[in-house]
Amino acid sequence: MELREFLDQTIEKNKPLIAQGHVATYIPELAKVNPNQLGAAIVNPDGTIISSGDCNVKFAIESISKTVVLALALLDNGEEEVFKHMHKEPSGDAFNSIIKLETEPDHLPRNPYINPGAIMTTSLIKGANKEEKFNRILTFMQKIAEDDTLDLATETYLSEKATGDINRALTYYMKGQGVFPADVNDTLDVYFKQCSINVTCISLAKIAGFFARGGVLSTGERVIPKRYAQIVTGLIATCGMYDQSGAFLDNIGVPGKSGVGGGILCPLSSKKIGIAVFGPAIDKEGNSTAGMGILKDLSIKMDYDMF
Ligand code: DON
Repeated sequence: MELREFLDQTIEKNKPLIAQGHVATYIPELAKVNPNQLGAAIVNPDGTIISSGDCNVKFAIESISKTVVLALALLDNGEEEVFKHMHKEPSGDAFNSIIKLETEPDHLPRNPYINPGAIMTTSLIKGANKEEKFNRILTFMQKIAEDDTLDLATETYLSEKATGDINRALTYYMKGQGVFPADVNDTLDVYFKQCSINVTCISLAKIAGFFARGGVLSTGERVIPKRYAQIVTGLIATCGMYDQSGAFLDNIGVPGKSGVGGGILCPLSSKKIGIAVFGPAIDKEGNSTAGMGILKDLSIKMDYDMF
């Protein structure tokens, strides 16, 4: 059976899992999204794309942006500087938990993919002001997605900003402990905007492909050192699905980074393949229920293996 036909079938098969999740409601703009959408896309090593379902629907990238911003922060600052500001360990807590910021002796975030670590990463992006910093993130994301139509969803951004009090609490806590190096409100503004960039399943699969190829575009152009792609993907494997990261890696066998918009980005470096799914109904950890089902079927069918 053709892979495209298999994707069509597995999307249909996993539709019942939509009922096991809900669209994110803590950001009102996300609560308006149709939960019944489902899409999948695979980018082969040569850049060719196989896709099915709602793979051209635009949705908010949300936490998946944390991988892209980490890559840019590494380019801007180097590995040593970035990891003076955060650890590389799973947190075992929810993405917006404050607990470990208090209990860690140095008060630094456990990793760049939970919210405090992601906001810390955003604070390290270079630029004369918050507008320039966001524009640098957007331009970088367009480049590695090989898609210059990616843009800011202003309504989502305003909704994130209006309801972002837990993120404010996390950031002020770090500032109060003397470990946050930048302006709180300016950094959060950039963070809310990066989460509100609209992507499609296809553009996400292309970003996954970029990381899976070790930081090289489908044209062969190297954009980031291989080491930086390894950091981004290694941390996706250990921390990408929050307190479900271990079970996800065990069940599905590919690294995944989720977002509350319903996307999951999977760079499979061992095969130089980029995979993405989109299903806005998410579980309590913030991960797409049907999206995970599709990934599991795909992984079994294709015998995907990280090692
Ligand atoms: O910071 C937030 O709450 C959101 N903008 C992003 C959270 C997110 O996507 C968590 N992921 N599953």
